[in-house]
Amino acid sequence: MISAKIAGLGFYVPERIVTNDELAQYMDTSDEWIQERTGIKERRYASKHNESTTSMAKIASEIAIQRAGLDKKDIDFIIFATLSPDYYFPGCGVLLQRELGITKTEIGALDIRNQCSGFIYGLSVADQFIKSGMYKNILLVGSEKHSMGLDYSTEGRNVTVIFGDGAGAVVIQATEEEGKGILTTHLHSDGTHAEELAFISPGAHGGYFGDQEKYGFPSEDTPGGLFLTQKMIDDGKIFPNMNGQLVFKNAVVKFTKVIKEALAKTKLKPEDISLLVPHQANLRISQFVQKTFGLRDEQVQNNIEKYGNTTAASIPIALTEAWEEGKVNDGDLICLAAFGSGFTWGSALIRW
Ligand code: ACO
Repeated sequence: MISAKIAGLGFYVPERIVTNDELAQYMDTSDEWIQERTGIKERRYASKHNESTTSMAKIASEIAIQRAGLDKKDIDFIIFATLSPDYYFPGCGVLLQRELGITKTEIGALDIRNQCSGFIYGLSVADQFIKSGMYKNILLVGSEKHSMGLDYSTEGRNVTVIFGDGAGAVVIQATEEEGKGILTTHLHSDGTHAEELAFISPGAHGGYFGDQEKYGFPSEDTPGGLFLTQKMIDDGKIFPNMNGQLVFKNAVVKFTKVIKEALAKTKLKPEDISLLVPHQANLRISQFVQKTFGLRDEQVQNNIEKYGNTTAASIPIALTEAWEEGKVNDGDLICLAAFGSGFTWGSALIRW
């Protein structure tokens, strides 16, 4: 029977380190507040002009492909997860294909828009493609250049301090090794609170979901429309917004539930987990999940203190770091879990 395994993994973070103290120069915040509430000490910011979501993904991908012992031309499908794409369209998948120099193979490229859960959604899609026999080597990437679209005034501080830039990539490969690879994946969503963690404008909504006046969209009888209006810019409504407490409360519940679901499906127990790699949203969320499942510190991979929340990139970066640190070994049971904007959430169990 064919299953899907992670055959190679890599990550890239930009060189520039941005400390909490540096952010405190632009907005009313403090190192103490950020560390206490989130666990974050610093994050990385990409070069404004010389790096992009795709360029970071390219570096992470090349490492993953090389570690899988493959040539770029062996990749037969690309899945790219991001909420900070280089262009509104086309998505980063085709840009990555071009940057990797593999356009001649004319492989498919799929863009995933599931924010913090993007990597797990992508993993699940890849798993199904591999199991069905459609593809053999899928490149799955999560990459974010948040720093380009954040509000550096005090108004945006609750969102801005948590995000960082970076990319992580894995090659997912068909294997016939008994009991190895991705054992199960679980995907969920609930759009009730879609706007509570969102980047609403620019967009084509025209005010459909709320007060049209507040966006300054052209009137119904004007020819054409606009994704971005002068009013949005003037009002500073061109940044992500988040109801942090609501997200936090939902995150701890859903993280727990979706991990339990994966364990129940595979008839495994929390003590069977070798390593939990949670999406790095907030250290307090990870600690809550750790406590719920009675896991020891060394069973949970955390790197939020160094990189902040890198959204779709956070799980592949943390997984790669764990692998590089020798914490991911043959036969280990690896649990991945994420929760984020949508709300969307998911989990995966992998027998390495
Ligand atoms: N510095 C200083 N003070 C701040 C900051 C800041 N950076 N941000 C907010 N505050 C203030 C608020 O204004 C508020 O002040 P007030 O009491 O005078 O009104 C006070 O701190 C408390 O604000 P809360 O929002 O209640 O703070 P909380 O303890 O909830 O922490 C945080 C905020 C860190 C954002 C937390 O809610 C959180 O981590 N939420 C979950 C985030 C998450 O998981 N996101 C999902 C992934 S992102 C994605 O999917 C794209």
